[in-house]
Amino acid sequence: MNTTIDLNLIVRQLRIVSGLILLTYAALHLLNHSVGLISLNAADSVRVYFHALWRNPIGNFLLYGSLIVHIILAFYTIFSKSSYKITKIEWLQLIFPLIALWWLAQHIFAGFTLNKIYGVEESYDLLTSIGLLDQESPSPWIPSIPAYIYNAATFGIMTLFIWGHGVIGLHRHLRFKSVFYNTNFNIFLFIYWIVPIAAVLGYFASLKEKSLLGYIYNLETQGNLFYEAFLKIPQESHGVLFPVIYMIDTFYPFIFLGIVLIVILNLVRVNLFGKIIVQYPEGKDIKIPKGVSVLEASRIAGIPHVSVCGGKGRCTTCRVKIISGLDNVNEPNAHEASIIKRLGFENDVRLACQLKPTKNISVLPLLNPETKEIKARTPVGLSGKEKETVVVFIDLREFTKLSEKKLPYDVVYILNKYYSVCGEIIENNKGRLDKFIGDGIMAIFDGAQSSSENSKNSIKAAKLISKAIKDLNNQMKIDFAEELRFGIGIHKGNTIVGMMGYGETVTETVVGDNVNIASRLEELNKKYKTELVVSKDVLEAAKINSKQFTSEKIKIRGRSGELEIFSLENASKLSI
Ligand code: FES
Repeated sequence: MNTTIDLNLIVRQLRIVSGLILLTYAALHLLNHSVGLISLNAADSVRVYFHALWRNPIGNFLLYGSLIVHIILAFYTIFSKSSYKITKIEWLQLIFPLIALWWLAQHIFAGFTLNKIYGVEESYDLLTSIGLLDQESPSPWIPSIPAYIYNAATFGIMTLFIWGHGVIGLHRHLRFKSVFYNTNFNIFLFIYWIVPIAAVLGYFASLKEKSLLGYIYNLETQGNLFYEAFLKIPQESHGVLFPVIYMIDTFYPFIFLGIVLIVILNLVRVNLFGKIIVQYPEGKDIKIPKGVSVLEASRIAGIPHVSVCGGKGRCTTCRVKIISGLDNVNEPNAHEASIIKRLGFENDVRLACQLKPTKNISVLPLLNPETKEIKARTPVGLSGKEKETVVVFIDLREFTKLSEKKLPYDVVYILNKYYSVCGEIIENNKGRLDKFIGDGIMAIFDGAQSSSENSKNSIKAAKLISKAIKDLNNQMKIDFAEELRFGIGIHKGNTIVGMMGYGETVTETVVGDNVNIASRLEELNKKYKTELVVSKDVLEAAKINSKQFTSEKIKIRGRSGELEIFSLENASKLSI
């Protein structure tokens, strides 16, 4: 399969970079507003540093460049969409900036004109004075309210919408990319809320302080402090500033309607002239516009289709087999191609979220859950997330042979004893049983706060399991003339965590390369004749002396470089 330059990928990267720069600017700007909670003077003192940071050639280039790129790409994305079958949160992310732009455009234009053309320093002192001028509403849309109420209200809406747009984008980006983000999500959530709230409160506190100062000034001098501050704006700027702001305020709603109209026309065009058919098993034919992904086609038609990462191309659970029309699909982008290569997919297996047919095709989703049931019981479960996890595999050695010699009743008894011994130790050490696979157990250790603690808990559990099975063997020798032998493999790393399964058997579990590696380490116990094989990452995180282990570097299929592993013959003797 050839790979091609993926324009959408480039657009996405540019949008992320420009968005991060703008969000950084917005965060600092809002934090500066929040200093108004201390005093106007304090806010103005901080503003000097804020302006020094952004009002230089590099700052200007980054800020205005990002703003232009971000707006152009946003319109490109909006107008090039062939389907608006998107989630509610995506709708909010789309609508928020379109509404906020109404006042943001005025804000940017006024700031740019005053500072860059007329050299006026936009201090909080000046801005609050203008905000409190006793004027009629500057908006022709709401003429009956005073200007200061209109300005304060639009400032609040603009702040919340722009910030909301930014943090939704950041969240959607980081939740599948960063383990740090997911493990510290509550801290991020706190920042997401506190920054705009503090900014709005800071702005109102500044207005209140200024209003008090204006009142005292008026009592002492009979003058108007606000109007005198207003006079600092050069007369010659009025002819540019106020008509343009008035025009933006008056005509932006029509621009907004124009955008909506273009979107509707675009949808009509693709729906009338660009339809193709995606055929699903059992003869379900779904008509979709060209350019829509197969995953979107499934959503449009309400066909259950697993998509643990939400269509980000990171989990592979949406994969489909192309039954016919292999020539009618886009080439995989670099990211999808690398996944296909790494996992050794056949030519006709593709990720539905990345697959955009240009002509009719027929597909077979390879994982096909009872989505309705999963959704009913776990409303957020299907979304999945990326998380660093410590994974433990335990397996009994030659249990098949042992079970052939025993009565079924004895086999069930022995297995249940082994499950309960391991299960209790795992749970007592902040781990959780993920699944039983025959005589194997998969467990996840994520109950402690840090990766270091989870790693240590997993090794401690391995030691205790080894001891407990040896104790169990004393009884087994008497009752069954047999002993249980076992192997444990432990590894940690990024995994996809989500609700997975079918029908009634839907549980939260983890998938990914690192789970396979843990399983592989468990198998290595057979080769080394050991009880425990653990990866260097886990041992280092747990801060356990590695000298008691035998180490080796091994190659793992699908992973570049070698993996250093540590094995131990008798895990019960481990010193922790
Ligand atoms: S939904 Fe995760 S890769 Fe497609």
